[in-house]
Amino acid sequence: MPDTETNQFTDDPATTGRCTATLITGAGGEIGHGLIEALSDAGRTDLVALDLRELDAGLCRRCCASHVVDVRDEAGVEPIFERYEVTEIYHLAALLSTTAEKDPELAHAVNVGGTMNILTLAARYGLQHNRRIRVLFPSTIAVYGLPDVETRDRAGAIREDQYAEPATMYGCNKRYCEDVGRYYSEHYRRLSSARGDLGPIDFRALRYPGIISAHTTPSGGTSDYFPEMLHAAARGEPYASFVAEDVRIPFMTMPDAVAAMLGLAAADEARLTRRVYNVTSFNPTAGEYAGRIRDAFPGADLTFAPDAARASIIDTWPADIDDLSARRDWGWAPQHDLDAAFDDYLIPAIRARAGA
Ligand code: SER
Repeated sequence: MPDTETNQFTDDPATTGRCTATLITGAGGEIGHGLIEALSDAGRTDLVALDLRELDAGLCRRCCASHVVDVRDEAGVEPIFERYEVTEIYHLAALLSTTAEKDPELAHAVNVGGTMNILTLAARYGLQHNRRIRVLFPSTIAVYGLPDVETRDRAGAIREDQYAEPATMYGCNKRYCEDVGRYYSEHYRRLSSARGDLGPIDFRALRYPGIISAHTTPSGGTSDYFPEMLHAAARGEPYASFVAEDVRIPFMTMPDAVAAMLGLAAADEARLTRRVYNVTSFNPTAGEYAGRIRDAFPGADLTFAPDAARASIIDTWPADIDDLSARRDWGWAPQHDLDAAFDDYLIPAIRARAGA
């Protein structure tokens, strides 16, 4: 049976020895679900989950241990590093953009404070055990801040070094954490004579577009209109989109988001020309999504009732991002374009679930 604990450790690592572990924070979130399923399907038995809440039983069974602890709590998280030889971390815990904008100080505490806690502990234990710990970090298109809609529409597909001036607390948090992760990888304690050529952490980040899953819905994001629209239609419920029909941001499917993270994790560090990569797949408008959804679920009651405040966040995000660096450096290529996303993944998976 997997081990579900708060931060109480029942056995003594000094006598049991430390087994290696892959730590996943925010394990109960949307990406956590997809990632844990993919890693455990691939035979990984070293998954240690961390989340603020108890994991659901299905996910828990796929992990060797699951800890209920706040990612900001150093005293609560440190025993995990004492007990396990953590070799790799997927640091997913964060508040998404809409939630973050409602409570920016809390978002900063969780998104930045939680990341600092994980990086600090990883650096400490990495140095203590002479091991470089790989940290994978989901960043976001929210790190981009286009000054106005005209600029956005003219800009086309944005590269990593363009317009990286976020206009949300979530974007600021992620942008800053990208830099701190790079610092721990390349410049950590640069005045110390004891430091080696490399930092204690090998930090790698993906700037994700919106993500669409056939199985889960996100909460508190500003790209949620597409998943909410799809899942409402599948349940036969009406849905009014909080963005207008002509809103266009990039998206990818959850299997592609997970594959991107695993692809970047597996990439030879010598081939990486940067630590933060754009990844994307398709970018139709909200209206085009509604059309596709109506094709699959005839009679779906989908309308548009834009919420100006929420839509103003999305107006600062790019209509497209350029993921050439990821394609070139570590062979990134999405499995699902728009047609495949609907025809091979979303609709069959939703129908299979409904039939089951
Ligand atoms: N999906 C995220 C959000 O909407 C953006 O990365 O907050």
